[in-house]
This record gives sequence, structure tokens and C-alpha cells, in this order.
Amino acid sequence: MEQSSLKKQSSGNAVEEIKNRLDIFETVSEHVLLKKSGRNYWGLCPFHKEKTPSFSINPEKGIFKCFGCGAGGDSLSFLMKVNNASFWETIVTLAQKFGIELPEAGVTSANTELKKQILEVNKQAAFYYKELLLENKEARDYLLKRDINEETIEKFNLGLAPGSIDGLIKKYDREIISKTGLSSFKNRIMIPIRDEKGNFIAFGARALKDSQGPKYLNSPDSPVFNKSKSLYAIHQAKEAIKELDSVILMEGYFDVIAAHTHGLANVVATLGTALTEQHVRIIARYSDSRRIYLAFDSDEAGVNATNRGADIIKSAFSGLGDIKHFDESFSDSTVKNERTACEIRVVTANTGKDPDDFLREQGAEAYKQLVKSAPLLIDYQINRIINLNDRSSSPQDKARLGKDVIPLLAEIRNSIIRNEYTRLVSERLSIDEEALNIEVKKSLQNIKPGESSKKALTGINKEEKHLLAQKNLLSLYFLNNEKFAPLCINNYIKEVELSDTNLNLIKKNIDEIVENFNDSDKLFDELLIKLADNEEAKKVLTDLIYSVDDKKDMKSDLFHRYIMDHIAYLQTHSVFEQQEKLRVSYYEDNRDDMSSSRHQQKVKELIKERRL
Ligand code: GTP
Ligand code: MN
Repeated sequence: MEQSSLKKQSSGNAVEEIKNRLDIFETVSEHVLLKKSGRNYWGLCPFHKEKTPSFSINPEKGIFKCFGCGAGGDSLSFLMKVNNASFWETIVTLAQKFGIELPEAGVTSANTELKKQILEVNKQAAFYYKELLLENKEARDYLLKRDINEETIEKFNLGLAPGSIDGLIKKYDREIISKTGLSSFKNRIMIPIRDEKGNFIAFGARALKDSQGPKYLNSPDSPVFNKSKSLYAIHQAKEAIKELDSVILMEGYFDVIAAHTHGLANVVATLGTALTEQHVRIIARYSDSRRIYLAFDSDEAGVNATNRGADIIKSAFSGLGDIKHFDESFSDSTVKNERTACEIRVVTANTGKDPDDFLREQGAEAYKQLVKSAPLLIDYQINRIINLNDRSSSPQDKARLGKDVIPLLAEIRNSIIRNEYTRLVSERLSIDEEALNIEVKKSLQNIKPGESSKKALTGINKEEKHLLAQKNLLSLYFLNNEKFAPLCINNYIKEVELSDTNLNLIKKNIDEIVENFNDSDKLFDELLIKLADNEEAKKVLTDLIYSVDDKKDMKSDLFHRYIMDHIAYLQTHSVFEQQEKLRVSYYEDNRDDMSSSRHQQKVKELIKERRL
């Protein structure tokens, strides 16, 4: 602790700069799926097991708080906790990440150096490959056949890996080339994979000739690349995903390239791997309403990928609300759209072709129409089952189809919508609605209802009440109320003694700086910097900020009264405390004589007094 505050003094500016660079939403959303509600975002707490979200971030203030386990603090606190790292370790890592020099750190980890090298070699290789492509007729012809012109080559930095790696070896030493995995790419169209920031983290490589196998190769996972966390073209698509508030997920590199070329800019793909929750988290950071279009190939494999992908998305969002189960035609006032955690739609061409083929053959408008009319996942899945049914189906077939459809229906939490779908399905499969209903209800009972998010109010005892009163008072500094600015609050409570160590520390710090920071927001920012390495104090500070919300609606003319009542309560409490101390010290001093009834009487009197 002592060492850390010493270091902090000499690198105070660097720590402050790092703190300023950290964004709570960005920091947390790498680990937690967040859903906006009011001014804050909510998600499942990464620090304890829960099924309904009690973890929240306040982006304006840059803090987080879990109402379940009590964790709280700023971005630094979050990173320390989630990585199980010390304050100083976290600062060093971040300094390296942001390229900020730490006067006394003197540590440049070998791993950071290696990452930098790989990124640099990948980037230079990408441009080297592009040059080779532009001057190679066979490769250019191949791409032209796929409707890929020079503009697209530039946009995606496509390239060509030649038959020999001599060119690369002349530029870089063998060791770093082997770390990037570049030497395994020969006679392939090179497709650079870039992360959200645009770094060249890996390559996808397609065989130039059909005789050549395998069709695709990827760079191996490396310190800068993890397949299950990377999405192809996220760098190019992220702005459009934000703008359109939706993302289209495809299967292949060339599907994405064709889509972008045809003016669909919010398209990304996984890298030949199944969709993971980490992929979903990346998407969720850019699309607030989490509208995800699954546009996989319309073959058997594509259908399976759709169902599996949908399950991953649902599980990633579970606990954060319902998935959208109705379209405008079903809309009714009992179902509010904002409560849906995500929206999954399925784009299908029913031609057995992938999006790349479809776009080339039928054009952009036809595909955009497909997207526009893409059904919700539930409709897609139910329709698929219904379409498997034909008039000649035997009762056994119908029972089997019914069985497949029951879990889908049971998943719909809104009973109006569920009943509507049940009716629809029974009609289309021509099975008895009542019978289907009974089966759905049975299945419903197996799904446990979400844990009640309302926590029972625990009986508040005197000590808790005392603490609450202190918190109430201190939180007023952060009200952002013109009439009751921090300096004004300070005039009221300057002299009030706080018994809680952390609250007291916060108040001492406020006393020191409030003259210069007579603004709730600035005062808070400054406090966070002053308390940067004090996790306990930051947690308490977070509590204060979150508790301000309850007081925001209070009328200004009530504040004076509120403050005075609290001060009076604290003063009375402190009188009790003094009496208690007196009683204890009296007991200590006279321990030997305690048997004497005179002293016992005295203690009783004091206790009685205390009860008043
Ligand atoms: P094109 O034939 O170039 O249009 O490819 P495609 O995208 O239509 O191929 P496909 O639908 O077969 O594959 C979809 C995605 O899966 C590709 O973009 C690759 O990411 C991945 N993939 C396909 N084949 C292979 C392979 O042989 N090896 C690896 N590692 N990935 C593959
Ligand atoms: Mn294809």
C-alpha cells in the first residue's frame, strides 16, 4: 500500500491520463452483455452467479455497481477485479496498451513486444500481398470472375500469397514469420482479418485453384488473434451496425465482401467457426436493440448453423429480458418492445445459394428485400416445422412435428402471444388446439421462472441506520442541484463528524477540494482521481452516486429540512455513542469491584439513560 502510493505520486499524471482514457462501457462490455435501461446499463454480474441482472453501469459517471454482491467502483476497479490483478499491475498493463510512459515502471513485458511485432508484420505483409495481387493476372481474373474489382481489393486490402515465402523471409526473420503463421500460405487469395480498431490480427486465405486443398486456411491463434473472439469485417461494419442498429451475420468471407460491395455495410462473418457468446458480446456493443440477422447459407448445414447460432444468442442474453417474439402485427399494449433483450431474424433465400451467389445473380435490391422481410426466429422455426407437414402426414408424423414445436411455443413468455401462436400452429398442422395447449403448458412448468429481482428489505438495525444517515448526507454533494451546490452542502455539514472510515475519508477529501470544484460532476471526477488506488473508498463513493437518484425528485424547499434532520440524527447518535463509551470505560476501570451492587446500579442507570 505504501509503495503503491509512493509510485502514484511520481506517476500521478500517467495514472490520471490512463483513467481518462478508460471508458466504463467499453471496459465492461468486453466482459458483460449490457442492456440499456434509463440512463444506466444493466447486465448479469461477472462477480457472482445470478440469473437476473443486478449489475449496472453508469456511463455518465464512469462507474459500476452490483446490487446483488455489492461490488462497485470505476473502470480501474472493474479491471482489477475481473482480471484478479493489483492496482499497479492494472496500471502497467493499461499504460502499455495506451502507449503511456510510466516514469517508474520500467517494465515492457515481452508479450506486449511480441504482439506489437506480429501486428506490424501482418500489416506490412497485407500490403506486400496486395501489391503482388495487383500485378498478377491469374489472381486478378479469379477475383473479376467473382465480381471483385480494384475498389473492393483496396477496401478489404485483399492480396495474393505467392508460391514461395522467399519474399517475406528477405524482410523479416524466420522466428517472427513462424509466429504469424504466414509461411503456410502459398498461392492463395489473402484476406486480412482486422480487429475493431483496425489492427491486422490474422489472415483468411482462399485457394486460388479448385484442385488445391483445403479451400480455406486461417492464421493460427496467436497472442493477437483468437478465432472465437473475432468477426470478419467488424472494422469496416461497426459504424453501419451502430447507425442501422442491426447486424447481418453471414458465414463466409466472400459473402461479406459481396454484401459490402452491394451497399450492405452492416455485415460481418465468423471465421468458419460456430458463433460464440464472445462474438455476440462484440455485436451487442454496437447495436443497442441487438437486432441480429442470421444470413447463413440455405443448405442443411446453414439451417443447423442458424439454430445453433440462435441458441448461442439466446443464452448470451438470457436473464436480460425476453427475445422478441412478435412482429408489429401482434403488437399490443401489454408487450413493450424496450423489454426485449434481443431480436433475432433469419434471412433465407430458399435457393440453396449463399449470399455471395445470390447477390451476384439477383442483385442488391433483391437481397435487401429479403432482409426487409426476414421473419423473426420464432416464425422461421415454426414455419420450417409446419412446412415439413403435408396433408398425407400420419398421426404419428403429426405428433412428432407437434413435439418439435412445443418447446418453441413454451419459450414464449407472453401468454397472449403464446396462445396466438399455439392457435396458428394447431390450425396449420390441423391438430387439436386444446391438446397442443395442454402439452405446451406441461412444458412450461419445466421452465423455472426467473428469480424475483426484488430483494427483500432486510430489517435495518441501528448501526445500519446510522451508516445510511451518513451516506444520505454525503450523497447530497453529488445532487447536481443548482441551489444546493457542493459548497452549499459543505456549509451545512462541514462540522459533522462521520464515524465510518471510508465516508470520513471521502468527506476529508471533499473538504480539501470543494472550494475549487463547486460542481457535482467535477467534484466526483476529482475524487475518483484522488482515491484512484483505494478500492474500498471508491466502492463507497459508487454507492453514494447510485443513492443520489432517490433524492433527485425531492423538492428543493425540502432539502434544508432533510439536511437538518439528518444532522440532528447524527448528533443524537454521537451522544449515545459517547455514553456507551463511558459505560464501557467505567466497566473497565471498575472491573474488580463489579460484584458490588452499587456499581451495577450505576451501569443500569447509564443504560437506561442511553435508551432515552
Ligand atoms: P467460396 O467457395 O469461396 O465462395 O467460399 P464459401 O464462403 O461459399 O464457402 P463455404 O460456404 O464452404 O464456407 C464458409 C466459410 O467457412 C468460409 O468463408 C470459411 O471461413 C470457412 N471454410 C470453408 N471451407 C473451409 C476449409 O476448408 N477450411 C477452413 N479452415 N475453413 C473453411
Ligand atoms: Mn460462396
